[in-house]
Amino acid sequence: KNEINIGLLGYGVVGSGVATILHNHQEDLRHKLGVPVSIKKVVVKDLEKKRNGVISKEMFTTSLDEVLNDPEIDLVVEVMGGTSAAQEAIRRSLEAGKGVVTANKDVMAESGPELLKLADENKCDLLYEASVGGGIPLIRTLEDGLASDRITALTGIVNGTTNFILTKMKHENKTYEDALAEATELGFAEADPSADVDGIDAARKMVILASLSFSTEVRLDDVFVRGMKEIKDGDLQLAEQFGYTIKMAGSARKDEEGIEVAVEPVFFPNSHPLATVNNEFNAVYVYGDAVGETMFYGPGAGSMPTATSVTGDVVAACRNLLLGVNGKRLHAPQYERKVKSDDQ
Ligand code: NDP
Ligand code: HSE
Repeated sequence: KNEINIGLLGYGVVGSGVATILHNHQEDLRHKLGVPVSIKKVVVKDLEKKRNGVISKEMFTTSLDEVLNDPEIDLVVEVMGGTSAAQEAIRRSLEAGKGVVTANKDVMAESGPELLKLADENKCDLLYEASVGGGIPLIRTLEDGLASDRITALTGIVNGTTNFILTKMKHENKTYEDALAEATELGFAEADPSADVDGIDAARKMVILASLSFSTEVRLDDVFVRGMKEIKDGDLQLAEQFGYTIKMAGSARKDEEGIEVAVEPVFFPNSHPLATVNNEFNAVYVYGDAVGETMFYGPGAGSMPTATSVTGDVVAACRNLLLGVNGKRLHAPQYERKVKSDDQ
């Protein structure tokens, strides 16, 4: 191969960031990979929309088939969001023999196991680093860095929008509505922000993290979820009077009796590091039997941080393609599902 071409699905907050990084860092990427990597086509919903950025007008299309039927396109980057259309696009890309990079936690939390199996059958990569923690390289850390350890628990802030809202309400006295509008304007919130504020986005991320950490299948309805609406007027100030900060937090733990996963508002003492994680930033503690306590921190949402994770996966997928090892993953059997809520 003397070049790698990408079909980009979506040119919104994340997609435009991906295009910017691939354009601005093209020389570094060519240097690292030995071949140029470029976007060949971009699929969007509305061709009439005015677009800024590095992609020329004739590269936009509304047709997924133009990407799938193009033999010169090696990789598909899915950053359009949503469930059915995105899932279908990922499935068809893999069936067409194209590797996929996605930031879509909705799809990975709901259909991850079956899509990863399909990727395997089609000898393609399916990489999803940006689906959790925005710019924090968490998935790869769990898959590789901590691979030899036995992870016992995870806890942290995995939704940027709710953390941004709580920070603005606490430190700048903003109303919930104003803070949510600002998070939306900055591109942190989901297309339907109820996924953020009701805790579903965080629950999907905890499904992905817990499944990887405990080598088993954790499902969305295994997660106990309580959203931001449980935080009433005055709660933040009351917590502050007693030296606490309220955060929307996710937790997952495993013991002999099974796995427990939850997303809910939690009081952290102000001295706790998670109490000091502000705005759209995320932080996750991972507890391992051997490593002990580790903490991963960084921007959890937004265009360039998320695009950094997406393009990191693009680089990994390109390396695999160039080495001819794309889609070659060692699949160990998973542990049997044992979730505590199943027993109740
Ligand atoms: P945006 O809404 O900003 O962009 C979505 C893009 O996809 C738009 O360009 C839109 O086209 C296009 N699109 C949507 N539906 C279709 C469709 N059916 N067919 C063709 N094109 C379509 O979303 P984001 O960039 O914020 O998010 C993308 C994904 O990344 C989501 O899965 C999200 O959860 C995930 N993510 C987002 C983060 C963030 O901070 N924003 C962080 C981590 C993950 P058009 O422009 O014509 O409307
Ligand atoms: N809406 C998500 C959040 C985007 O606020 O965390 C990043 O996954």
